[in-house]
Amino acid sequence: MLKQPFLNYSIYMSDFSIQIINANFSYNENTVVFNNHNLILDIKGDQKNKLYGIIGPSGTGKTTLISILGGQLNPQQGEVLINNINIYKVDDLARRSLISMQMQTATSLRGKLKYNILFGLPKKEGEIVYENSYLVEILVKVGLWGLFEAKDGLDTLIGEGGLNLSGGQRQRLNFAGLYLRAKYFRPHLILIDEPTSSLDELSEKAITQMILDLANDALTLVVAHRLKTLDEAVGIFDSSLINSKKDMIFYSRKELQLESQYYRDLIDGNAVLEDYNHLT
Ligand SMILES: Nc1ncnc2c1ncn2[C@@H]1O[C@H](COP(=O)(O)OP(=O)(O)O)[C@@H](O)[C@H]1O
Ligand SMILES: [Mg+2]
Repeated sequence: MLKQPFLNYSIYMSDFSIQIINANFSYNENTVVFNNHNLILDIKGDQKNKLYGIIGPSGTGKTTLISILGGQLNPQQGEVLINNINIYKVDDLARRSLISMQMQTATSLRGKLKYNILFGLPKKEGEIVYENSYLVEILVKVGLWGLFEAKDGLDTLIGEGGLNLSGGQRQRLNFAGLYLRAKYFRPHLILIDEPTSSLDELSEKAITQMILDLANDALTLVVAHRLKTLDEAVGIFDSSLINSKKDMIFYSRKELQLESQYYRDLIDGNAVLEDYNHLT
């Protein structure tokens, strides 16, 4: 078992790769999502923008793919390698220093605001991971501070028994948490599942900017239901191709236009990227 050999590694980071090799994954015998599928993504050390996107119709395996890459769903067959390290063979701490993720399903919120955005960060007695002023700065950035400033600030109680947040507000809060974790752990890989699906245009813009900021430091894979979130993406994997191609390839927009009917429909306005009512 490897024990966090990566913490200071990012300083020396040169090339970087993620690989899924010959993976099978099914939830049950009726739901086979991956069947001898491969994914290879190589990043050059001097590549500044490392934003990559995943699009595709609902139910085609985007969330499953993110979960497999995040170390949450071990494929029944195949390997998942990050820089040649099998992420299912390292301990949780090592994995956390490699990968930060924000999942589609908002975690249930409870207790003080501060507790919720610092979730997943180390909390030793007396040790301050982030100054309050920085937390406020991030909450301003995601457009939530006004809401809490009028209440009890970082001590505002949220969730059951406290301030009830809308789907979009929860999504922005979750994103703020991911952002803080990513800035703290400096992972090599950041996985985000539909960060903007319930957001208005202004919030979407702010979150997209912050995602780009993260993508300067780490390979950032974002499942998006709006192409706008992926305007700056270097490559896009389209999960509508999953049954016709065993290799999951991150295409440029030009290539994708040639390869995917779904993508062509999307840019022509003949398809919606995702059914996104489930989050609101
Ligand atoms: N926990 C689960 N149990 C059983 N089937 C699931 C589960 N999660 C997802 N699925 C099924 O796996 C397939 C892929 O789902 P998912 O990865 O969530 O797709 P997407 O994120 O592209 O909408 C779908 O057919 C979905 O119904
Ligand atoms: Mg999904």
